[in-house]
Amino acid sequence: MEKITTVKLQTSKSKHQKIAMLTAYDYPFARILDEAGVDIVLVGDSLGNVAMGYRNTLPVTMEEMVVHTRAVVQGVKRALVVADMPFGSFQENDEKAVGNAITLVKAGAEAVKIEGVEYISAIRKIIKAGIPVMGHIGFTPQAVNKRGPGTRGKETAERKRLLQEAKALEKAGCFAVVLEMVEAKLAQTLSKTLKIPMIGIGSGPHCDGQVLVTQDLLGLSDWQPSFARPKVNLRTVVSRVIRQFIGEGCPCSSVDRAAVS
Ligand code: KIV
Repeated sequence: MEKITTVKLQTSKSKHQKIAMLTAYDYPFARILDEAGVDIVLVGDSLGNVAMGYRNTLPVTMEEMVVHTRAVVQGVKRALVVADMPFGSFQENDEKAVGNAITLVKAGAEAVKIEGVEYISAIRKIIKAGIPVMGHIGFTPQAVNKRGPGTRGKETAERKRLLQEAKALEKAGCFAVVLEMVEAKLAQTLSKTLKIPMIGIGSGPHCDGQVLVTQDLLGLSDWQPSFARPKVNLRTVVSRVIRQFIGEGCPCSSVDRAAVS
């Protein structure tokens, strides 16, 4: 079993081997993803929507990220574990950003992901501290109140800006960049132009790798973006099994029924 490192991901890009990245927020899913051969397990701040039931990722705290990162790393042997730096954990000042990145590493993360390029000085300092950083441009959910949703890179000016952002992240030392909802042709150009891997989500098929929220892939989410077509409807499967369990008269439900009748 070859442990996935940032160096190995760079080799995958040079060899045109597609990089597979999925999210996990707990031990059992992390273990399933790792055993199935996923290259990167992302403890995404999408845990806000997916695991905590929040309306978006903005309320997610460092404390929550630490707890979920700790759980995920227990289940991973081969994949690279990347933890998202949640909203508010890197904006105040660079020293706090470095401190929070270190906290995620202490919880077991092998790299962190930061949305946007506004705090590139924090990104540089985190890398200088020895922590690999993954960038994230295009649609950045933490900026949803500022910029709104939608595909990025349809206009010429925005295309130029995204190319500059990707180059700036590469120059700063990021080992990879997530391209979220970037117009497909532009995502292809970025993947060809940049030396580091570009991991797409809703950005067409021509990126160096693909990332999805696992629950979107499995049909477990309340809602999923149009680009994330579920491969199975696990919500229905789980619900059927639970109904069967109740129907078969499980010990706990029969006690409860006796109590209310
Ligand atoms: O938080 C997350 O899950 C993410 C991915 C969707 C890229 O940032």
